[in-house]
Amino acid sequence: MLPKVELHLHLEGAAPPAFVRGLAKEKSIDISGIFDAQGGYVFTDFWHFLKVYEAATSVLQTPEDYARLTRAVLEQCAASGVVYAETFVSPDFCGGRDLGAWREYLHAIRDAASAVAVQGGPELRGIVTCIRHFGPDKARETALCAAETVGDFITGFGIAGDETSGQPKDFRWSFDCAREAGLRLTAHAGEWGGPQSIRDVLSDLGVERVGHGVRAIEDLALVDELAERGIVLEVCPGSNIALGVFPDWRKHSISELDRRGVRVTVSTDDPPFFHTTMEHEFQMLHRAFDWDDGQFARISRTALDAAFCDADTKAKIA
Ligand code: HPA
Ligand code: ZN
Repeated sequence: MLPKVELHLHLEGAAPPAFVRGLAKEKSIDISGIFDAQGGYVFTDFWHFLKVYEAATSVLQTPEDYARLTRAVLEQCAASGVVYAETFVSPDFCGGRDLGAWREYLHAIRDAASAVAVQGGPELRGIVTCIRHFGPDKARETALCAAETVGDFITGFGIAGDETSGQPKDFRWSFDCAREAGLRLTAHAGEWGGPQSIRDVLSDLGVERVGHGVRAIEDLALVDELAERGIVLEVCPGSNIALGVFPDWRKHSISELDRRGVRVTVSTDDPPFFHTTMEHEFQMLHRAFDWDDGQFARISRTALDAAFCDADTKAKIA
């Protein structure tokens, strides 16, 4: 199995449904409505997905729950040959943006991840993420939590959630705060918004990577600009297909973006929600576009190059 590098993975979104059901049972929380008869997560569209995601997340209530989650997620990563991953973590879900509580959650996640890495498992880094539909005020509190916890685990700051809610410029203060604290920046755009949404996160938030960005293909001048500037796209093809951004794998824009010189990478987003794994993504891309091991090695090199970790960590993984 090829060694893989994953840059776009929501921590709660990677929670296996059985794990979430187990915690719900332990805590007597009824979230049976978010599962189908086979026990998988069920939702009708992206906005419903966000609701189901938040319901699943409601069972994660203590730092220890997050430590268990981190171990479960890294086990899945390792099973797909992932050697390095970055995960979105949010003080909105971990302690309600209270700095003291956030530190406790964060240390639980970081310590669980370090223990896995020490035993030869994947390396994990955290990208603190504000939630767009929670609004700019909560994003400011999130950015302050991020700025206080920059370190060898928290290396980035980003924004997720409903891309159609508000404007990137509403979040400029938060991104400036994170940048000044030394964090690397990424933002979800160009999944539900068109090309302008990508231009906006580049100009208003100053990000160096874009989460998704796949609708850049609707504006070839933007595609050229992304290629020239070396902006890295965190492409999650299986997620896009599951949510209907593209009708099928062959119609996904990743191949054309790559052909036009954009630095594309491959990730899973919320793997059990979208019935995918990194191994599955690679297999489907091979089938759809005949991508070979050389192409996948190039993708992994791009991802490692764009990773928000230090040079020593990169050297250890390469
Ligand atoms: N996209 C946007 N926001 C999210 C996602 C996602 O896939 N998962 C959790 N929050
Ligand atoms: Zn995402």
